[in-house]
Amino acid sequence: MKSSVYIVLTFILSVFVFFAVPVVVSAAEGGGKGYFKALPQIAENPENPVTKDKVELGMLLYLDPRLSKSGFISCNSCHNLSTGGVDNLPTSIGHGWHIGPRNAPTVFNAAVLKTQFWDGRAKDVEEQAKGPILNPGEMAATEELVLKRLRSIPEYRKAFKKVFPGEKKPLSYDNVANAIGAFERTLLTPSRFDKYLLGEEDALTSREKRGLNTFISKGCVGCHNGVGIGGASLQRFDYGTDQGRFEVTKNEADRKVFRVPTLRNVELTYPYFHDGSVWSLKEAVMIMGEKQLGLKLKKKEVADITAFLKALSGQMPEMTIPQLPLSTRHTPRPDVSIEAGK
Ligand code: HEC
Ligand code: HEC
Repeated sequence: MKSSVYIVLTFILSVFVFFAVPVVVSAAEGGGKGYFKALPQIAENPENPVTKDKVELGMLLYLDPRLSKSGFISCNSCHNLSTGGVDNLPTSIGHGWHIGPRNAPTVFNAAVLKTQFWDGRAKDVEEQAKGPILNPGEMAATEELVLKRLRSIPEYRKAFKKVFPGEKKPLSYDNVANAIGAFERTLLTPSRFDKYLLGEEDALTSREKRGLNTFISKGCVGCHNGVGIGGASLQRFDYGTDQGRFEVTKNEADRKVFRVPTLRNVELTYPYFHDGSVWSLKEAVMIMGEKQLGLKLKKKEVADITAFLKALSGQMPEMTIPQLPLSTRHTPRPDVSIEAGK
């Protein structure tokens, strides 16, 4: 891998460093700050330590369309790092122009969420990453094909050896997911709201603070809380035809139950909801009031809440676009065929 491949993680040397540990203030103090936590610098996972080399490798894999059968679709196709980590489509398009059933949630800050997917069926970003590569309607590859492609490229062989030292088979499917997971653990976007949580009262405008208070007093915070401002629980949302978590567990109690999404960067991640049926953030807020709280929010309340939600748009991590290592004559060629199933 070229040494020119690097990511400048943005948290260096600022005062921030001293407040890296999420700050929790009691709810009574400081305008409801106790319901939320500021983002950490990195979403650590003791089982998959984040190292600089692993993050660099993970970034290459994230951007590499050769992880798909067609050689055309990468993680970035549906979770475009330049468009808020989403594809801005109602539901995603995968292999053979297969139109999937659900909206792509953002990869930014996904690593801090307690579970992954709209139905919470994966426990963390490492487990999650193994899914889409093999999903026939997404990247449509097989483990075998992915490993064959990567093993045919000397730079990848070298990089995996370096990143996973002492392992018998460093270039494994698990380690593909571990490297991508480590990269995602750096995709955090601290916002003005984090500054506010860390004590900078002026970081929010008075309108945004009013929106925050409404968000709390109306009860949005009951589900959208913690470090992800969402992502910590599964809740019923009676909307559309998708049966949510029921599809995974077949348990009646899970019918139409969905993982509460993060509201960080929600301004960027339209259209909204698991089916991407709503394009306007204000409309999404109104629907939430009605469906989740039984409230008809006033126009001004919706506008204030929306102003607060826009203050959750964070600072994107700085990255240098890497050059992917070239295919060799041993690299299995792109296969764009779309026969049924695969
Ligand atoms: C074809 C489009 C597509 C591709 C390619 C794709 N994803 Fe996704 N991704 C989705 C969709 C759609 C969902 C939601 C699916 C669901 O909840 O059932 C999702 C969910 C996720 C989530 C969960 C986020 C959350 O809030 O729960 C993460 C993280 C993620 N993808 C990362 C990746 C990574 C890493 C790759 C590459 C290995 C990848 N995706 C490839 C469409 C895609
Ligand atoms: C009872 C729990 C609960 C409450 C209360 C709640 N939400 Fe939600 N919220 C959810 C769930 C679950 C979803 C995901 C819905 C889905 O499956 O599409 C969601 C989705 C959203 C979305 C769409 C995000 C996206 O990326 O598609 C927005 C915006 C939102 N909520 C804002 C609010 C606001 C503002 C309030 C208060 C007026 C609120 N929510 C109250 C549980 C809740």
